[in-house]
Amino acid sequence: MTRLAGKSALITGSARGIGRGFAERYIAEGATVAIADINLEAAQETAAALGDQAYAVQLDVSDQASIDAAMASVVDHAGKLDILINNAALFDAAETVDITRASFDKLCAVNVAGTLFTMQAAAKQMIAQGHGGKIINMASQAGRRGESLVLVYCATKAAVISMTQSAGLNLIQHGINVNAIAPGVVDGEHWEHVDAMFAKLEGKPLGQKKAEVAAGVPAGRFAVPADLTGMAVFLASPDSDYIVAQTYNVDGGQWMS
Ligand SMILES: NC(=O)c1ccc[n+]([C@@H]2O[C@H](COP(=O)([O-])OP(=O)(O)OC[C@H]3O[C@@H](n4cnc5c(N)ncnc54)[C@H](O)[C@@H]3O)[C@@H](O)[C@H]2O)c1
Repeated sequence: MTRLAGKSALITGSARGIGRGFAERYIAEGATVAIADINLEAAQETAAALGDQAYAVQLDVSDQASIDAAMASVVDHAGKLDILINNAALFDAAETVDITRASFDKLCAVNVAGTLFTMQAAAKQMIAQGHGGKIINMASQAGRRGESLVLVYCATKAAVISMTQSAGLNLIQHGINVNAIAPGVVDGEHWEHVDAMFAKLEGKPLGQKKAEVAAGVPAGRFAVPADLTGMAVFLASPDSDYIVAQTYNVDGGQWMS
C-alpha cells in the first residue's frame, strides 16, 4: 500500500520508539519523512537505517528558533509539509509532595508548549501552501485521567487532548485536520525508564511494574509501535478528511470514551 505517496511528513521525537515506528510505516506508505529529534546523532542513525525517503533534522520542540529552523529544513528538503506528528515528549513521576518546579517547567515546555508551537509552525506552513494538511498530536491514556504518581505528565497529556480540540476546531477552516492518538502502554526504551522510576518509588524489583501493568491491559499485553501505525496512517490520509479535533484511544481496551 502507498496511501501517503508523495507526502512530506515531519515526525518529532522520531529517532527512536513510537516516532521511529511511525516513520518506518509512513515511508512504506510512500511518504518522505523528516526524522526530527533533539538527539541529532540518533536521528541521523535512524534516518540512515530507514533509507532514502528519510532525512534527519535537529529539533528541540521547547525552543522556538529550533522549531523555525526545522520547519525551514523540511521545506528546503521536501519543498512542502503535508503531515506533522507531534510525538516528542518527556515523562516524570513523583509523589505529589515531591514534584519540583524544574520538572513541571520542563515537561510543560516540551509536552505542552512544544506541541503547541510545533503545531503552530506546521499550520502556518500548511496555510501558506493552501492545500490543507494533517496534524496528529500524541496524547496518552494518561491524559484521560490522573495517576497517583504521575501528576505532571498526566496534566500535560490532558492539555494535548484539549489543544487538539481547540486547534482542530480553529484550523479546519484551512482544510487542516488536527486529531490525536492516545496510546495505552507501549513497549520500548521509554517504558524501561518508567519501570525503573516506579521500581524506586514503589520499592519494587525491576520489571515488576511492567508485568503488573501488562496484566491489567484487556488485550493482555503492551503495545508495540506497529500497533499504533494504522491509526497514524488513517489520520494522515484523505479517509480522515471529515474527522476533526478527535482523540482516538489505541490502547488494547484500557479506556473507553
Ligand atoms: N511509550 C508509551 O507507553 C506511551 C504511552 C502513551 C503515550 N506515549 C507518547 O508517545 C510519544 C512517544 O513515546 P515513546 O515511548 O516513543 O518515547 P521515547 O522517550 O522512547 O522517545 C521520545 C523521543 O523524543 C525525543 N525528544 C525528547 N525531548 C525532545 C525535544 N525537546 N525535542 C525533540 N525531540 C525530543 C527523544 O530524544 C526521543 O527520541 C510521546 O508523546 C509519549 O508521551 C507513549
